[in-house]
Amino acid sequence: KELKVFAPATVANLSCGFDVLGCCLDSVGDEMVVRKNDLNEIRITKVTGQELPMEADKNVAGVAVKALLKDLESDQGFDIEITKRIKPGSGIGSSAASSAGAVFAVNKLLGEPYSSNQLIPFAMQGELIASGNEHADNVAPALLGGFSLVRSYCPLEVLSLPVPSELRMVVLHPLIEIKTKDSRSIIKQNISLKSAINQWGNLGALISALYTDDYDLLGRSLEDEIVEPIRSILIPYFQELDELSVANGALGFGISGSGPSVYALCKGDENAEKVKQAIKKFYEKKGIDFDLHLSAIN
Ligand code: HSE
Repeated sequence: KELKVFAPATVANLSCGFDVLGCCLDSVGDEMVVRKNDLNEIRITKVTGQELPMEADKNVAGVAVKALLKDLESDQGFDIEITKRIKPGSGIGSSAASSAGAVFAVNKLLGEPYSSNQLIPFAMQGELIASGNEHADNVAPALLGGFSLVRSYCPLEVLSLPVPSELRMVVLHPLIEIKTKDSRSIIKQNISLKSAINQWGNLGALISALYTDDYDLLGRSLEDEIVEPIRSILIPYFQELDELSVANGALGFGISGSGPSVYALCKGDENAEKVKQAIKKFYEKKGIDFDLHLSAIN
């Protein structure tokens, strides 16, 4: 009747995969408790950690669950409690965690009428109200784990990719809020053929690197000349953080989702810890408030 789930944070885009690539962090996320009620109603009964809408139609979890129940033609009611640990507007898939966690729990409580992959479109409805756009690069890895690639949006086709076992992610969240809606509005709608060639070359190489455990190739592929040059302006000391991370041995560095969080992808715990400490020292010296996470990808 009741289920408690961990709703993971995710890093979308990974530089060269804008709107099509994302991965799931295994130790950063929210907690949700979902239980059936006898009221034929979806209720957000408790939210702790952040201020979020309590009205189901305005809460991403409520919207995603309603989309699922509509498709299933079910009038079962559910109560949803959310303990928010991911800050909204941080760039590590806060709304995706709530949407994905809610549909995952509801599906389980209903005896799993859908596969995890089939839950993605429902969770995307939550993303739609959160950011004005139905991107799947956060909700897909939140539901499937590891790395996900959106091969196509219409029809939706999402693939799971392997995770090289030594990959670690350091995520820095400068404590400023950037709404995905806003950071989507500043990017260019048209790109040059030259940029497209560079981008799909890198994305293809990144996928190959995941299959062959080629950490150096993975690092070389984490480039983005389309979105990052525009969005990075909003992130304090972006260039310095990039150089610092790479100088300390990170494989690559970039913006997490729509920012302001940034990520440094590292090989092994020891290197990730070194990069984390270097970033910590640098931001402390600059007097900027931040959260810092080190996580495996799972
Ligand atoms: N792909 C989306 C974007 C992810 O970059 O706008 C948002 O987290």
